[in-house]
This record gives sequence, C-alpha cells and structure tokens, in this order.
Amino acid sequence: MDTLLSVENLSVSFRVEETLLPVLQNISFSVKNAEVHALVGESGCGKSVTSLAITKLLPVNIAEYNTGSVNYKGIDLLNTGYEELLKTRGKEIAYIFQDPFSTLNPLQIIKEQIIESYLIHISENEKEAVEKAKFLLNKVGLTDLDSRLNSYPSQMSGGMLQRISIAMALMCDPSLLIADEPTSAIDVTIQSQLIELLLKLKSEIKMSILFISHDLALVSALADRISVMYAGRIAETGSVDDVIDNPKHPYTIALIDSVPSFGKDSRRLKTIRGIVPSPYDYPSGCHFSTRCEKVFNRCLLHKPLPVRISESQYSSCFLFEEAK
Ligand SMILES: Nc1ncnc2c1ncn2[C@@H]1O[C@H](COP(=O)(O)OP(=O)(O)OP(=O)(O)O)[C@@H](O)[C@H]1O
Ligand SMILES: [Mg+2]
Repeated sequence: MDTLLSVENLSVSFRVEETLLPVLQNISFSVKNAEVHALVGESGCGKSVTSLAITKLLPVNIAEYNTGSVNYKGIDLLNTGYEELLKTRGKEIAYIFQDPFSTLNPLQIIKEQIIESYLIHISENEKEAVEKAKFLLNKVGLTDLDSRLNSYPSQMSGGMLQRISIAMALMCDPSLLIADEPTSAIDVTIQSQLIELLLKLKSEIKMSILFISHDLALVSALADRISVMYAGRIAETGSVDDVIDNPKHPYTIALIDSVPSFGKDSRRLKTIRGIVPSPYDYPSGCHFSTRCEKVFNRCLLHKPLPVRISESQYSSCFLFEEAK
C-alpha cells in the first residue's frame, strides 16, 4: 500500500502569554492509501492538535510549527502556499471535527453549510449539490431531509449535528478523512451503524481515514494500524494486531489493561495512576516516566526515540533499547 500522508518529526509550540509550550514533539506517523489509521490516547495527549496541524488549521496567533513536514501526495503542506492549502482542505482532506457545535455556523441553515465545499471544489450547480447532500444525509440515517436542510443547528440534537458533520465531510469524496471522535455524541446503538457506514464509504470511494479516539475497543474493531499518543509524543505505533495483542510500551499496556472488554477479569480492571502532564510541566525525560511502573534512571533524564520492534511496530521506550 502506498503512503498517502506522511507526518515526519512534527513539533508544534503554543505561545501562551510569555510562555512557549512545546505541545507536540517529534510526531511521526503515516497513513497509507485506503487504510484506517487510528490515533489513540487519553484526553489532553495532543490528538486534536495533531489533526489540526496537518492542514495548518491551528490558531495562527498562538501556533508555531517548529520542526517537521506533512507530506501529502508529494506536497509538504506545512510549506506550501495558502492557495494550495485551500484546495486541499475540504476537498482532498476533509474533517469531522470533535465538537459538531463549533463546526457549524449557528446563523446559517444546514443546506447552505453542507453544500458550500461542493460548490467551491466540485461544481457550481446547486441542484446537484443538494442532491448529493440528501444522498449522504440519508446514508447517515437522517430522515425528513427537506426540513433538516432548512433548519438551523440550534434546532437539532448533538447526535443529529454529528451525523450532519459526517455527511458534510464526505461531500467532495475526500482522499483522506480526518475523523476526530466522530461518534462521541451519538448513542452506542447508532454508533456501530455509523462506523459500518464510514467503512463502507471508505471502500466505495477508496478513502483513507485518520480515526481519532480514546476508545481502544472501538479502534481495534475498525483500524488497520494504530499510533498511541502520550503527552504530545508518539509512544507506540504498529498494526492493530501488534498494538492490541502484543503491546510493548508500558503506556499502551496500561491503556489496554484499563479497557473492560479487553480485561481478562472485568472485576479487576487496572487504572493508570496519576494524570497526563500538561505541556506546562512535561517531564524532562520520558513523558510517561511519572506514571510508569517500569521506570528506571535513564527514563528520568532522556527522551526515548522510536525503537523498531518488528517491521511494522515501533515503541519509544528505553526498555527495548536496553534489551538490544
Ligand atoms: N487553543 C489552545 N491553547 C492552549 N493550549 C491548548 C489549546 N488547544 C489545546 N491545547 C493544549 O494542547 C494539549 C493537547 O490538546 P488536544 O486537544 O490535542 O488533546 P486531545 O488528545 O485531543 O484530548 P481529548 O481526548 O480530550 O480531545 C492539551 O494540553 C491542551 O490543553
Ligand atoms: Mg481532542
């Protein structure tokens, strides 16, 4: 499978008042053609910031892109012109943002918002755009479409808006869909239908998906590969079988042990002590060192680089460097 998107050594800082916060550090991962690559990790690990950095959607007044590149179909999106970025966003790379309320303009009816990218990128024929919108809204399980299209976001539930965001992202048949917790506001019963739908559409239009979630059980059912993020860095990356069945990084192991459906005995689920450090106080060594059960001296002093475990699996942990 060819690589569609390659994020290499990406570091991003946020300037907050006089402080420069090193939010993302040396992030590397790739998404291949027609694959689902999942980005997982606890809240605050930097999943959304990573996804927004890909097409430079972070707030310009605070974000600084310090190192790295984002290669998409041969173009470095971090160093390309604004015109090229605009052509890519929405058409080539489409987003389902984490918060459907913030995506939609409260003052515009749904119809105007959902057809906008189609009119810009595909055709100015409004009738055709509305037909496509109805087709997709029907696919995501909405009924009474004329009335939905003429409603304002405030007239709909969070679940409905999330489905509308999914349909909106698919209007231009993107090559890459970045889906940030796309089903978090949707009932569990409907969640699996929507996931099936995304996978069906993925194979119909040969789309790749960067699927962002903190739900490892969900991700293990739909992803081809997984990258585990911890406090602004990638802890481990590999195929689903590598990461779920043969996790190497102590953080991945702890995450898996805390998922009820993966636990051997659900009455004895483990929790990970402590919380994810914020970019204000990332440890000077390994970012997981403050919570890791396997921590040793070197982890407190240096940041581990990715160590190759197998052809497909890499883990950023000194345990494996020591073992070599
Ligand atoms: N606009 C911002 N200004 C300052 N800090 C921010 C901003 N947006 C995010 N951050 C910080 O960047 C870090 C990463 O946040 P991010 O939203 O990417 O986490 P996440 O992994 O998506 O979490 P969640 O699972 O809760 O969505 C956090 O420490 C967060 O506080
Ligand atoms: Mg997020």
